[in-house]
Amino acid sequence: RLLIIDFGSQVTQLIARRLRELNVYCEIHPFNSVDAAFLTEFAPKAVILSGGPASVFAEGAPRPPEEVFTLGVPVLGICYGQQVMMHMLGGHVERGHGTAEFGRAFVTPKDDRLELLEGWFDEGPEQVWMSHGDHVSRIAPGFEVFGTSPHAPFAITADTSRNFFAVQFHPEVHHTPRGAGLYANFVRLAGFKGDWTMGAYREEAVQKIREQVGDKKVICALSGGVDSSVAAVLIHEAIGDQLTCVFVDHGLLRQGEAEEVVTMFRDHYNMALIHAQEQDRFINALENVSDPETKRKTIGRLFIEVFESNANQIGDVSFLAQGTLYPDVIESVSFAGGPSVTIKSHHNVGGLPEKMGLKLVEPLRELFKDEVRALGRELGLPDHFIGRHPFPGPGLAIRCPGAITRDKLEILRKADAVYIDQIRKHGLYDEIWQAFAALLPVRTVGVMGDGRTYDYACALRAVTSVDGMTADYYPFSHDFLGETATRIINEVQGINRVTYDITSKPPGTIEWE
Ligand code: XMP
Repeated sequence: RLLIIDFGSQVTQLIARRLRELNVYCEIHPFNSVDAAFLTEFAPKAVILSGGPASVFAEGAPRPPEEVFTLGVPVLGICYGQQVMMHMLGGHVERGHGTAEFGRAFVTPKDDRLELLEGWFDEGPEQVWMSHGDHVSRIAPGFEVFGTSPHAPFAITADTSRNFFAVQFHPEVHHTPRGAGLYANFVRLAGFKGDWTMGAYREEAVQKIREQVGDKKVICALSGGVDSSVAAVLIHEAIGDQLTCVFVDHGLLRQGEAEEVVTMFRDHYNMALIHAQEQDRFINALENVSDPETKRKTIGRLFIEVFESNANQIGDVSFLAQGTLYPDVIESVSFAGGPSVTIKSHHNVGGLPEKMGLKLVEPLRELFKDEVRALGRELGLPDHFIGRHPFPGPGLAIRCPGAITRDKLEILRKADAVYIDQIRKHGLYDEIWQAFAALLPVRTVGVMGDGRTYDYACALRAVTSVDGMTADYYPFSHDFLGETATRIINEVQGINRVTYDITSKPPGTIEWE
């Protein structure tokens, strides 16, 4: 296994991700938990020193233990990792007075015999991503220069006799397009075969959950979304009936959704599942509420009330399971307390652990969305479930602008089901990031047969996106839109007009409220 010593870079998890893509098992450990004894016990086959925000000059600047350099295994230092390596091995680092460098740069080979660089410069200078204040001004004895950039004479250096490599840039990020190739070379020269799999990850995750939870009880708010579902199935595999899932049915779900969730988790996976049927409570509380933020807050408050009372009935619970993913972890760190404006109050159970004195189990914290999907497949969750579009916590309430009623929700559910059926039939579901129908709070005049109609209008939404932060509308063909409109109007009583929403985000948002 490979050890990544973390010095606090925002992108350390991306290194782990690149390695997992190469089917190499790695663990990230913060620098202050790694000492000589740890190294002996861990026995890494290679070590990567991550980037980080510190300066090697700062008092108490983070360092790896000296023993990293006497283990006799390959070491790769990245950015801060490079500087700390040079500093400890007898080179010299200078403070960044006017030499700070952030962003794109091009590295040119000085000598491309280095195994780490095999195939790397085949197409000429390589684009890399730099992000550093200080810089190395003299390399350590034994090191040679293998690549330079206009502002980084020591962009790539190595001591080939000891297999120590140091790069000033970040090969793990997207803006170093061929950076994965460097990691591939590094793990190959370190002797990794690339035979680690998601199956192995599953076993290790199960082991870790058992160690963390012991014989205590865990509860999980299961929404039926991919993240909470994968987390729940994984935790259930680890601790069986010590896990109870609470599925809060707020009556704002899509057609057939509640049945599907209950059947799958209770019958197929045999999990202890509480189906809290609280439709009336939510819908009564939302009666006459038309302000979007009030709607969201009402739903959020009731959700917590319902969840808490169910948890209290189970009794003696110590842990709350959450399907937090790595991108959520970075966002909450970098934006916590920041000056951003609340566009929409998000529905989550964030405040619960403190309120109820629960500790968190978050087995997906290191993974990205596509890795969670792969893990879900590994755990036997059906493909159509894993590939599902995201669905917001407040559900259909925010797809029905204005005050909701049971009738409107029913009309919306039917229209949405027809629309999604159309998308699946045309093989477009997986190309679209999210698609749904919204029911507009206006009625318009139409003519059907020989009669006048006065019914609701519905809007169809479909977007492409990478992360939901920005989005563009999906360019359906006119034939598809025409056919879908006809089906909705024919099959759904209460709708006589269909529109297609062609707003991108920004300026629009994906949901209507
Ligand atoms: P917006 O409408 O803000 O949505 O462009 C971006 C993404 O977030 C989803 N969304 C939510 N998800 N709780 C959630 O779990 C919420 O309160 C919530 N509001 C919006 C939305 O479906 C889209 O995928």
